[in-house]
Amino acid sequence: MVSKSKSQTQKLASKLVKQILKTSPEPKRGATIIALQGNLGSGKTTFIQGFCKALGVKHGVTSPTFIIFRKHPISRFHFLDSRFSHVYHFDLYRLRKSKEILALGFKKIINNPENIVLIEWPEVIKKFLPKNTVWIKFGHGKKQSERKIDFFQKKL
Ligand SMILES: Nc1ncnc2c1ncn2[C@@H]1O[C@H](COP(=O)(O)OP(=O)(O)OP(=O)(O)O)[C@@H](O)[C@H]1O
Ligand SMILES: [Mg+2]
Repeated sequence: MVSKSKSQTQKLASKLVKQILKTSPEPKRGATIIALQGNLGSGKTTFIQGFCKALGVKHGVTSPTFIIFRKHPISRFHFLDSRFSHVYHFDLYRLRKSKEILALGFKKIINNPENIVLIEWPEVIKKFLPKNTVWIKFGHGKKQSERKIDFFQKKL
């Protein structure tokens, strides 16, 4: 689709949250993982801010470029029937080698079904991502405030 504004991109993110929250969990699967691809300024962080807001996380959702990731709790107060406890925001722009992510406890994070894991610049760790990862491609549009956003989602 084509998003014409920042707020439209964030609304799209909140729709994805609704879809994820209503999908019934399968036994023994890991985290819900969303990989966001696209150039600088294409809207990945903007989308994640809308996503986190829809999960009740209102503050501190900024690019974790230098610290690699941030972990935000999901309020059980707002989502009593939710199976999720935390949303992780990774920005792998500065990651040089894929195995560096393992030292951050990545395997444990993606194996926990209570986690939602959002990853900017995911290409470098593609080999560690499961098949059910939702891939979203972001690109610039013709106008300055247009962004192309395409989902590649086999199953949630
Ligand atoms: N339709 C749109 N959707 C999203 N962002 C938009 C849109 N139009 C303009 N923008 C602007 O584009 C910028 C997108 O920046 P953002 O940090 O989200 O990009 P990014 O993909 O995370 O970049 P980086 O790779 O540097 O992390 C913001 O300043 C935002 O206001
Ligand atoms: Mg970003």
